[in-house]
Amino acid sequence: MDEASPLSGNDAGGGDPIGATDHLRPSVAPAPVQPLPTEALASLKEEIAAAGGEWQEGPEFEGAVGHTMYDTPSSKDNTVTVLLPAEKIAQVPSQSLVRIKSRPKEKGGDGRQYLGAVVEGPFAEPDGLRADAPIVVTTTVRGGMFLPKYHGRVQVSILGEEVDGMLVPPRFRPLPNSPVFVLDQEETAEKLHLLGDITLGLAVGYDEMPVRLPTQSKLVFPRHFGILGTTGGGKSTTVSTLVSQLQQSGTAVIIFDTEGEYTSMHQPTEDPTMLRALQRRGLQPHGIPNTHILHLVGRETSNPQHPHVTPFSLRFEDLSPYALSAILDLTEAQDERFMKAYDIARQVLMDLKIYPTTEQEKEELLELDEMERGYPRLTLGRLYDIVRLCADTVAQENTMETPLSQEFAENRARVLERIRQAQLPGHVGSWRKVQGHLGRLLRLRIFDNPRVPAPNYAQMTQPGRVTIIDLSDTDSPQVNNLVIAQILRGLHLQQDRNYQESERTGRPPRRTVIVIEEAHEFLSAHRRQQMPVLFEQVARMARRGRKRWLGLVFVTQLPQHLPDEVLGLINNYILHKIADENVISRLKRSIGGIDEALWARLPNLAPGQAIVSAGSMARPLLVAIDPAPCKLRMVV
Ligand SMILES: Nc1ncnc2c1ncn2[C@@H]1O[C@H](COP(=O)(O)OP(=O)(O)OP(=O)(O)O)[C@@H](O)[C@H]1O
Ligand SMILES: [Mg+2]
Repeated sequence: MDEASPLSGNDAGGGDPIGATDHLRPSVAPAPVQPLPTEALASLKEEIAAAGGEWQEGPEFEGAVGHTMYDTPSSKDNTVTVLLPAEKIAQVPSQSLVRIKSRPKEKGGDGRQYLGAVVEGPFAEPDGLRADAPIVVTTTVRGGMFLPKYHGRVQVSILGEEVDGMLVPPRFRPLPNSPVFVLDQEETAEKLHLLGDITLGLAVGYDEMPVRLPTQSKLVFPRHFGILGTTGGGKSTTVSTLVSQLQQSGTAVIIFDTEGEYTSMHQPTEDPTMLRALQRRGLQPHGIPNTHILHLVGRETSNPQHPHVTPFSLRFEDLSPYALSAILDLTEAQDERFMKAYDIARQVLMDLKIYPTTEQEKEELLELDEMERGYPRLTLGRLYDIVRLCADTVAQENTMETPLSQEFAENRARVLERIRQAQLPGHVGSWRKVQGHLGRLLRLRIFDNPRVPAPNYAQMTQPGRVTIIDLSDTDSPQVNNLVIAQILRGLHLQQDRNYQESERTGRPPRRTVIVIEEAHEFLSAHRRQQMPVLFEQVARMARRGRKRWLGLVFVTQLPQHLPDEVLGLINNYILHKIADENVISRLKRSIGGIDEALWARLPNLAPGQAIVSAGSMARPLLVAIDPAPCKLRMVV
């Protein structure tokens, strides 16, 4: 015991513990103290022995860092206060897991055992004094003239009661004065379920506790991720790390790369900050194997040097007219005319026996869901012809001068007859607007290009293949959204086929993950009303993805622009720094299980740090995401 002075500090390390001897030393020398008579000491020892020997902490307390406190009227369910000696404070950093063992029954307790996590503290509080007591305040202001003894306090959130190795919801709470033990890293990792085949990074606050995710669990990637955070928070780096890991695990990855940022992933990083960070973490820079760039025909790729660059075109017939109308942001009047023209086009294709032609196609037609896809063999050029003829008709212009696609030109009379029967809505201005929209799309030449195929979805979903859809040269969110909507649908159908095949053959299913950068551009809250069809497509895909091993990763620096319905589809989150209080409070409503103390850290996270909440983990954790091994292109 330290008996120098009731005011001496704990960690003063001997000598003059208060550093203030001169002020406190009495000016008159004290009288010498008489030694204790030996008989007195001997009788004291006898009395101690008679009472059962010196007081010993029970074996159940051995190794405890602290003890639970009594409750007060302000105590809350599921959280207990734990007090600890000052020298143990360093053993209980924020977020550590602890086990609390109430006294055994024979010692007056109930023998229950709980698992908890440190959610507040560790705080240092002076022993026997309030922290704001004048003497503490004064002496602290005086530069530590003396340091009162102090102890640590942490607030522990109870995760559950441990019953036969299982964690069950607690019905009681730990009794007062129960010993508290810190779990070692190995057990912590096990209790937090940080196990899996891919590594995301290291848990913050531990020496080296890797945070892993299982790609073979349906709870994680097939239940979708949100990677959110302000600019510079580390989202793209996290995406790269994730893609590298997923690739190694044999998952197929598709990235919608709006900025062309990921088109150099096949090369190792050269960024000095990243190289240093990799070295600190004991990792090597490396390129990601098996990457392939796809870009829209007629648009550039931001990295023509990449060894695998392939152009693709889209098939107009794959696109739902409802989705197209939403993506083009047509007004109600334009939409009415667009749908009318679509209807006429459909009838003309039937009249001219372009579709359906066979019995089988007739049956297919009965099943056709135009919320999902377009009318077979209706090209953009054919639809444009119809819209133009309609506009000309309404304008009472000479439709004979309008050049048409070959089949329509050969059957001009029948086409015009259909248009005459159709009772077109008037107002030529609206018709011309629709014509203008389709004309612009037509000039992009991204649809129905006979020389450039549509994306090869079977190839894209091959294990370990990484496809980067380079959208950097489109300059148009509408075109990006067309591409995303189309490719999502293509992948969805392909993944359905893959799944059925694995059911049939008994081979393990192919796992696919799709990363959507700038997700708020694709699914924005303010456009939510206008695009129910597009949203429904994504929602359906998200729901079915769970069964089909198809995971979506939504990346955005503007989570406030994502509609609640989209957040509702996401079960896993990587939250980088977010400073906006309004955004945080909205996220709090959508994301469960993150305690206040973690939320409070969100505005101050360093680049690369993130709160990770995943279906496989027992509770969310603050993670230092591993630096990306591959090259990211700088975008300005
Ligand atoms: N995991 C990490 N380890 C080390 N440094 C990181 C990490 N993540 C990010 N950084 C640092 O932060 C910088 C910005 O990261 P990044 O480009 O990934 O952010 P971002 O959220 O994608 O930003 P933006 O919204 O502008 O696209 C990086 O260049 C790097 O210096
Ligand atoms: Mg980024």
